[in-house]
Amino acid sequence: MSNQGSAMPINHVSILMAMRDEAQPVIDSLKLQKRDDVIHSQLPMCCYQKQVGSIQLSLIISGVDDRHGVDNIGSEAATLMAYEAITRLKPDLIISAGTAGGFAEKGANIGTVYVSEAHFVYHDRHVPIPGFNESSIGKYPAVEASRLAKSLNLPSGVISTGSSLEKSDKDILVINQHNAVAKEMEAAAIAWVAMLFKVPMMALKSITNLVDQENRSEEEFLNHLSRASRSLHDKILDLVDYLQNKSIEDLA
Ligand code: ADE
Repeated sequence: MSNQGSAMPINHVSILMAMRDEAQPVIDSLKLQKRDDVIHSQLPMCCYQKQVGSIQLSLIISGVDDRHGVDNIGSEAATLMAYEAITRLKPDLIISAGTAGGFAEKGANIGTVYVSEAHFVYHDRHVPIPGFNESSIGKYPAVEASRLAKSLNLPSGVISTGSSLEKSDKDILVINQHNAVAKEMEAAAIAWVAMLFKVPMMALKSITNLVDQENRSEEEFLNHLSRASRSLHDKILDLVDYLQNKSIEDLA
């Protein structure tokens, strides 16, 4: 359905990604231009932009930890990146895109791409004190995007965030308690900032490793990062196409 009547069109979209390897296929395909005047000069994040049809598209990546020569993965950089994106670019929609661990018993394969549903939780914040417990788990809202997911033929579910790639039984217990379908390291941090600034937020997560299979997540992640990033690239391009002349209400 295209945007008609009084609903505001989605003009500005910010896609936030942690890793260069996840983002580069999208930067290349859409020929996004690097912008050095968007992000605070002291920060490591990089911003790429282009007008794509009706949408001013910004893709921001976390940048590199110069001390170790690796990408700034995880929720600290994601929080700061979301703050920068929201305050400087004022997007109508913010998207956390990247890779995640999935579950074969919930229907995932390597390269399956999920759309976020309902809310974002944290699975490794174990604070058994009333109030702090619920606050730590988060449950930050995801924009209602069931029509989007159906149109793009993508499965959807709760996305769960933590600070480890390695699997732990305790974390998996929490992930299952919340019926989450994917385990990653940034979405809930971005969703918290989006909630504070009242910006609609969603995630697109491509599966690199199956957490419920006999394997080591870190090995599977490295083995399948390229394949999952290619699959994510395909779905991001579909999504940018889908968002043309749409309102937030059209996604539900
Ligand atoms: N990113 C990709 N796979 C992951 C996993 N299993 N846990 C956390 N983040 C991930």
